[in-house]
Amino acid sequence: MAGSYHIPVMLRETVEMLVHDAGGTYVDGTLGGGGHAAAILEIVRGKGRLFAFDADPGAIANARERFGEELGHGIVVRQAYFSQAVEMLAGEGIAPDGVLLDLGVSSRQLDSDQIGLSYRQEMPLDMRFDMNSGRSSAADIVNNESAEDLATLLRRYGEEPAAWTIARAIVRRRSAKAIATTADLRGAVESVIPERFLIKTLSRVFQALRIAANDELGELERALDGFIPLLRRGGRFAILTYHSLEDRIVKEKFREEERDCICPPEFPVCRCSKERRLKIMTRKPLVPTAGEVERNPRARSAKLRVAERVIDERPGHAGSRSVDN
Ligand SMILES: C[S@@+](CC[C@H](N)C(=O)[O-])C[C@H]1O[C@@H](n2cnc3c(N)ncnc32)[C@H](O)[C@@H]1O
Repeated sequence: MAGSYHIPVMLRETVEMLVHDAGGTYVDGTLGGGGHAAAILEIVRGKGRLFAFDADPGAIANARERFGEELGHGIVVRQAYFSQAVEMLAGEGIAPDGVLLDLGVSSRQLDSDQIGLSYRQEMPLDMRFDMNSGRSSAADIVNNESAEDLATLLRRYGEEPAAWTIARAIVRRRSAKAIATTADLRGAVESVIPERFLIKTLSRVFQALRIAANDELGELERALDGFIPLLRRGGRFAILTYHSLEDRIVKEKFREEERDCICPPEFPVCRCSKERRLKIMTRKPLVPTAGEVERNPRARSAKLRVAERVIDERPGHAGSRSVDN
């Protein structure tokens, strides 16, 4: 069962770069089917510990089955979005030696007949990882947002060239009958997009709505802001992304955090007090091998970036005051 849930992507590369101390404390913020978590646990079992989170209650239920007796000992599993996971760890004074985020969706979620992520089968158009989160579902979004806001969303999160045409088609369709299912949304797209462009367009439209319904980019930004200061000195932050929007956010944040002073060159002394907090370990992102992509096509767009927490030792900088946290 666990095997069919999700095939973990770049498993060996990710775990090798993340886990540098078998007695350390690790965080998996995207538990999914537990493939990465199990590999981390294999190394830290009996010596270190793993805190694993997922927003999806289905992932948590699966982990309870998969990790059974180890729960509460080597591995702690909790349902939480990234920002809630940061709060929980900070509240308990936990400074991780490594944090993993394997972004996006698991195969189980893509194939689920409940969440509505796939345009290939008819199901309710929800798309939220946690349907009790209080966030708007994809159906709420397509039925309530203005045509302008829908077009912006499709352009921003789906990089959809026909965003405006599709947004107007959605508004036309919902004025006759509310859009409730994946088939209703597909119908709106089909009404304006030629057959030969349909599959790629549907992928972009569904991706855009999934990102919006889960505030995925906002969550990623909050995760970066929250987890970086939490990491112990030498602790690693490993992030697997699956599209350019996510990857750009990670790349830019890692670069920003690698820089110290950002004062203009004409300033004789630093006034910004910006602290260097990361050293990038992957100048270029690692990508899966051709063999892995052949075995697991869902790995094809993956990029792995890893950075290490450093403490700024310059006098007067915030980092120089921290004990070896
Ligand atoms: C690609 S899957 C992870 C697969 C996992 N590494 C494995 O080996 O099975 C991504 C998981 O992250 C979860 N997720 C995505 N965004 C999240 C967020 N902001 N907060 C918490 N969980 C999130 C999804 O629910 C999904 O289960």
